[in-house]
Amino acid sequence: MEKLVIVGPTQLKGEVTISGAKNAAIAILPAALLINGSCQINNLPNIVDVKLTCEILEGLGAKITWITNNSIKIDCSNINKTTAPLDLTRKFRASYYLIGAMLGRKKEIIVGLPGGCNLGARPIDQHIKGFEALGATVDVSQGNVCAKVDKLLGTHIYLDVVSVGATINIMLASVLADGTTIIDNAAKEPHIVDVANFLNTMGADIRGAGTDVIKINGVKELITNKSYSVVPDQIEAGTFMLAAVASQGDITLKNCIPEHLDCITAKILEIGGNVQSTGDSLRVWMNQRPQKATIKTLPYPGFPTDLQPQIGVVLSLANGTSIINESIWDSRFQYTNELNKMGAKITAQGQSAIFEGVNKLYGAPVYSTDLRAGAALIIAGITAYGSTEIYNLCYIDRGYENIEDKFSKLGANIKRVIEE
Ligand code: EPZ
Repeated sequence: MEKLVIVGPTQLKGEVTISGAKNAAIAILPAALLINGSCQINNLPNIVDVKLTCEILEGLGAKITWITNNSIKIDCSNINKTTAPLDLTRKFRASYYLIGAMLGRKKEIIVGLPGGCNLGARPIDQHIKGFEALGATVDVSQGNVCAKVDKLLGTHIYLDVVSVGATINIMLASVLADGTTIIDNAAKEPHIVDVANFLNTMGADIRGAGTDVIKINGVKELITNKSYSVVPDQIEAGTFMLAAVASQGDITLKNCIPEHLDCITAKILEIGGNVQSTGDSLRVWMNQRPQKATIKTLPYPGFPTDLQPQIGVVLSLANGTSIINESIWDSRFQYTNELNKMGAKITAQGQSAIFEGVNKLYGAPVYSTDLRAGAALIIAGITAYGSTEIYNLCYIDRGYENIEDKFSKLGANIKRVIEE
């Protein structure tokens, strides 16, 4: 079994380069299925979820050539299956994007019901509502989703909840539909804009991504032999920003988009930190103990749920009592039990948690309960006195590229160890 061993405390200092966005990459790869030919995708994060997506696409007939560690050529001219490798698709959430993309490409698909991090209930009713409105029939049984359509017809879809996955999935299914599709109450996350930019680069006609109304004018086919670079990862960048604050360090992020980080910057300034942006880099530094804060997670441009555990570490060390209200997921405070093992004083109940700030955290053996919980535990380990051992690295490896190397270059004493 692998574990991360971190000996702290360390004040992180130096530069870190942000990778391509996981949640954009794992939607853009299935989007390539809509191209009857090849394209090149650059700035892909080299993470388990990207490799898994590539494996699933190969199972459907795609030919993938790795040009570098972060760049692939993908040829989807021979998509010859309409059943995805079911065991692989069940392993992660983003396999739901195969439904939208394959409805567009082959008019049918069977995938295993998407798994992913355990954050509470994760329904896909809004995805299904969108596919059905476009004319598809969707059957969910025996752990699989089976979707079919004769002809996708553009329509007006109002999402009952702001959903990243449903917005992207309906966009995918609409690109090659007949006529115009309008998605109302769409999500606005940077990766939604990125998927739309990818598709538009490939010849789609999508307008309004990044606002809450997206209009997709169906096109006959997409263009081949184009290349695209995935947007920098907002959440990875936010993770390092919060690591700088928690460790009272001074970090400069390279290859990020500061505007995507405005809501995090605002909170960091509120709790006494400093942020300075220049072009595509961002310096974050902290010279004092953080002040208490109140946080509510919200869809973009609100404070992201995917940074809630990381700011939870900051608030567990803050001066005063803070409150976090998690409004997206039912069960995203599991990490607080692990932080309490390190000396934090957090009481979580339902979708709220109270953080009574402590002066110090202390190293302990802890278990990552999901991807962002894992990132939070790394930050906690870096700030804590003594040795922290983090288990369940499979979650962390799904979404962060070379995480221990990146933290190590910032001065952290962090090692991956194989335990007998
Ligand atoms: C995406 O999940 C991300 N995953 C999550 O990232 C992220 O936490 C989440 O968006 C919110 O930003 C991927 O992109 C693969 P949603 P997604 O649909 O698309 C409800 C990470 O750590 N809902 O925006 O599954 C749902 O229950 C993670 O990288 C419905 O009710 O999230 C939730 O309360 C994990 N019906 C809310 O909407 C639906 O059909 C938002 O979910 C869909 C969603």
